[in-house]
Amino acid sequence: MKIAIVGFGNVGRAVAEVMLERRELFQKVDFEPKVVAVFERDGSWIDENGLKLQELLSKGTSSPSWVEGAAMAEERLADLDCDLIVEMTVTNIEDGEPGLTHIVEALNSGKDVVTSNKGPLVLAFPELMEIAEKKNRMLLYEATVGGAIPVFHVAREALLVNRIISITGILNGTSNYILTKMTDEKVSFNAALREAQEKGYAEADPTYDIEGIDAASKLVILANGILKTSKSIKDVRIEGITRITPEMTELAMEDGYLVKHIGYVDRNRIEVIPRLIPRSSPLAVGGTLNVISLKTDVAQDITLIGRGAGPRETSSAILGDILHINKIRKEN
Ligand SMILES: NC(=O)c1ccc[n+]([C@@H]2O[C@H](COP(=O)([O-])OP(=O)(O)OC[C@H]3O[C@@H](n4cnc5c(N)ncnc54)[C@H](OP(=O)(O)O)[C@@H]3O)[C@@H](O)[C@H]2O)c1
Repeated sequence: MKIAIVGFGNVGRAVAEVMLERRELFQKVDFEPKVVAVFERDGSWIDENGLKLQELLSKGTSSPSWVEGAAMAEERLADLDCDLIVEMTVTNIEDGEPGLTHIVEALNSGKDVVTSNKGPLVLAFPELMEIAEKKNRMLLYEATVGGAIPVFHVAREALLVNRIISITGILNGTSNYILTKMTDEKVSFNAALREAQEKGYAEADPTYDIEGIDAASKLVILANGILKTSKSIKDVRIEGITRITPEMTELAMEDGYLVKHIGYVDRNRIEVIPRLIPRSSPLAVGGTLNVISLKTDVAQDITLIGRGAGPRETSSAILGDILHINKIRKEN
């Protein structure tokens, strides 16, 4: 399978590293990846005979295959001879770019797509799926929600016989870290946020995390991907966690509850709001962990807990998607 990587930042590099580590496994599952292009914002590495990933990781732009030039992916993707593109550029939920153009170009030119980039899916899920269907291509996006947690895979494969009724989860590790800290150490929201920033869990501008916009984006992808709705972020009732006080978390604790920032969607309701969760609930996960629970009609409740971020963890979801597409393409 000829692959092009678009976006060689933290996640892109982790994908390349794990690909190198898992060469023996790939042989066993009949997966022969050949990375023919890696695009960055300001240039690209291209070799139709296959790039040496080890050299790219160690030498970077001093590798001989590096070609300087802006917006290379946008210009080159359509004509590139490859089977699949992995889109891992920065998330932008204002206009979805540059990822949206990359994904559209790739699908329209007959390539399968795997992405970790929420922006294009939050803004244009139905449109992208329509192009994929029309072109008979696959667009998989496991890494966009819950980092390493394979929720779409489980819903699509293992729970196929079920009707999925609702989805509940904690979808943002930063806000979960802050609420956990406030509960465990009785510190103020601002003190917990500062610590999250010091530890690198929160951005300098943490608005998307603490106001629930990041979680709402992921909920939209879950709703559209699993419940087959056509929701957009405007449909989500969103309330952030900035008004939570240590007194609230303490009172909740006294009654056996935790204050958690919960995303919930069923066919009538979609919201991300602070809610009280029994301390014994499977949703009561601490720190930066994410949790996603699917309510189904046959299997009942299935709850997945895992790392919602981290380049290496996220690469597990991306490579899972790539291997899935490889399997389907080999069968056909
Ligand atoms: N990090 C995680 O744990 C995690 C988890 C789940 C999902 N994700 C998602 O995965 C994606 C990548 O995350 P990341 O942490 O790897 O971010 P990152 O380190 O910022 O990497 C993004 C890369 O994309 C490059 N880029 C920007 N515009 C481009 C363009 N037009 N063409 C080609 N490359 C371009 C950036 O180059 P410059 O540096 O020059 O801008 C950067 O190297 C994001 O959408 C993120 O939301 C990340």
